[in-house]
Amino acid sequence: MTTPTSGARQRVLSGMQPSGDSLHLGNYLGALVHWVRMQDEYEAIYFIPDLHAITVPQEPGELAERTRRTAAQYIAGGVDVDKCTLFVQSHVPEHAQLGWVLNCITGFGEASRMTQFKDKSLKHGADSASVGLFTYPILQAADILLYQPEGVPVGEDQRQHVELSRDLAQRFNSRFGEAFVVPKPFIQKESAKIYDLQNPTAKMSKSAGSPAGLINLMDNPKVTAKRIKSAVTDTETEIRFDKEAKPGISNLLTIYSMLTGKSIDEIVGDFHGKMYGHLKTELADVVVAHLDPIRTRAEELLGDPAELDLLLARGAEKARSIASATLTEVYSKVGFLPPLGGAR
Ligand code: TRP
Repeated sequence: MTTPTSGARQRVLSGMQPSGDSLHLGNYLGALVHWVRMQDEYEAIYFIPDLHAITVPQEPGELAERTRRTAAQYIAGGVDVDKCTLFVQSHVPEHAQLGWVLNCITGFGEASRMTQFKDKSLKHGADSASVGLFTYPILQAADILLYQPEGVPVGEDQRQHVELSRDLAQRFNSRFGEAFVVPKPFIQKESAKIYDLQNPTAKMSKSAGSPAGLINLMDNPKVTAKRIKSAVTDTETEIRFDKEAKPGISNLLTIYSMLTGKSIDEIVGDFHGKMYGHLKTELADVVVAHLDPIRTRAEELLGDPAELDLLLARGAEKARSIASATLTEVYSKVGFLPPLGGAR
């Protein structure tokens, strides 16, 4: 079996889809800040799953641009290509190659039990769902297993997919001999969840109803401030944290707390006797002060696409050196005849 980790640090791997022109605050606080923190503690591998993106229809001209924009925002948000490995999934062909092998050891019934497929296929109309959407979690297992990580930092919604990758790793190992580390989900705490500004009981998400509910990293500060000031609250006047009775205010308090590092109690104390408008105005300042440097840096990176592409090419090269070793091992265990000269 390939050694999982070089040196003492554990390896982690994660990815976030290039689903829009901008990441939103939920992506940022729910994933990106954890990635940035983890690159010091772990040997971190992060990637942009563009192969996964085409499981639902994409505008071809947009996909490449969004992939670049996503990369720029990762880097602007603190992902450091000298500390971790950052790459684009389609630049490493081993993902699709291992995906095929894993397809062949996954049961049809097993794949049918994936709840995200059920949700997404209903949303897109069950008949128009692609086979790619169906096998999405198996490609995700390939993403993970290729790199032999101990941990996969994801949100609760991805737990089932990481469990599938564990099952497939164990199955392969017992059927063909040890080839994979069995990874663990590193689940981010529920408390960190950011909700839609217009519909504060639903998770902030690009696929939600209206853009007014989103705080986007790449939006103009005026737009961001306006959206925060128009956030849905409730008919009371008291600023306190109560997720059930006051989901809107609680969401604003969560965002405030996460961006300033102050506890919710402290913030509630500071705003005692003040009105919702005060909280919104101050929060708008906090959010803009935090996000504006990120947006500016991302714009700067996007201003030099050749340099950005070079960083991604270097990342892909680092990634491939790990991925190809795993794939060679897997192909040999499965019984594929090695090609003359050994190159795949
Ligand atoms: N499915 C993940 C999401 O929607 C993205 C993803 C693809 C991923 N491959 C991965 C996450 C591998 C972690 C590891 O968020």
